[in-house]
Amino acid sequence: MSTTNGPHGIELNMAMDLVRVTEAAAIGGARLVGMGDKESIDQSAVDAMRLTLDSISMDGVVVIGEGEKDEAPMLYIGERVGAGSPPQVDIAVDPIDGTTLLSKGLPGAISAIALSGRGTMNVPKHVVYMNKIAVGADARDAIDINAPVDVNIKNVADAKGRKAETMTVVVLDRPRHEQLVESVRAAGARIRLITDGDVAAGIQAALPGSGVDMLMGIGGVSEGVLAASAIRSLGGEIQCKAWPRDSRERTAAETAGVDVEKVYCAEELVGGEDVYFAATGASSGDLLKGVKLAADGASTQSLVMCNRSGTVRWIDSFCNLAGSRQGIYRSSG
Ligand code: FBP
Repeated sequence: MSTTNGPHGIELNMAMDLVRVTEAAAIGGARLVGMGDKESIDQSAVDAMRLTLDSISMDGVVVIGEGEKDEAPMLYIGERVGAGSPPQVDIAVDPIDGTTLLSKGLPGAISAIALSGRGTMNVPKHVVYMNKIAVGADARDAIDINAPVDVNIKNVADAKGRKAETMTVVVLDRPRHEQLVESVRAAGARIRLITDGDVAAGIQAALPGSGVDMLMGIGGVSEGVLAASAIRSLGGEIQCKAWPRDSRERTAAETAGVDVEKVYCAEELVGGEDVYFAATGASSGDLLKGVKLAADGASTQSLVMCNRSGTVRWIDSFCNLAGSRQGIYRSSG
């Protein structure tokens, strides 16, 4: 694989380094699959991710992580990660998206990371949620988060040369989406309700042949930025808008200079050309197979993308965790 540098001096094989990070985190989390302990799963994934990140030649700053420094001992916002040498990069991590799923042994949990040049990740601060709409390359110009649901569905269906009845929209199954679900059904489209994990759902909306045509609804800000990183490589689009939960949150955001009416497209959330994304399945889902634990190691499936080249790779690995071969990865794909 080429090691040519992009404008930020980021080696084009960085994507493969990132896969090692999400593989380690997914395995870390999956060791505790089904044990009903979300916190321990998250901690185990964070520990594995943090350790692996420092083996990468980069000078990284965590822009999206486990929270502010006083609430997260590791992978906190502003933490420096990597071996310390150039390139200077922004990092977004979600050690496990879908901790509840993994704690119950349910499908669809992934580990995800995104990387881009320093100062290129733009996150609306002081809000926890964003409203989102995401689609693939064939409908990237057909969405408008401020337009009614039926208009978006019709425009996306037209762009894809399809009827609304053949379209599938993924929505997080939450009481706040009652009206959205009704509107999608009224517009004639099909719905896939998910209990968690809208990073994977956003990727599926942009991935040709996934069976998902759109992601709609309110989910985490961090998850929106991670999905945007992947969607850029896929040539799709995501539009996001801050969704303050109450007037107190709105005021706090506005006081901090956040325009809660601003619509962020993928490129505004994660700018520049050198954007890398990697995800590894923790529990098997529609997007990725989950970790399979064995006596001597674990097998994983990952997805890795590079915006500049538009490359999307699926990687099956076996991580040998036995004895002196600990940490050796054999990958194919
Ligand atoms: P966690 O793994 O951090 O619990 O996040 C899971 C998730 O479903 C995200 O994918 C989604 O963006 C967010 O939670 C939605 O938040 P909420 O569960 O509060 O509606």
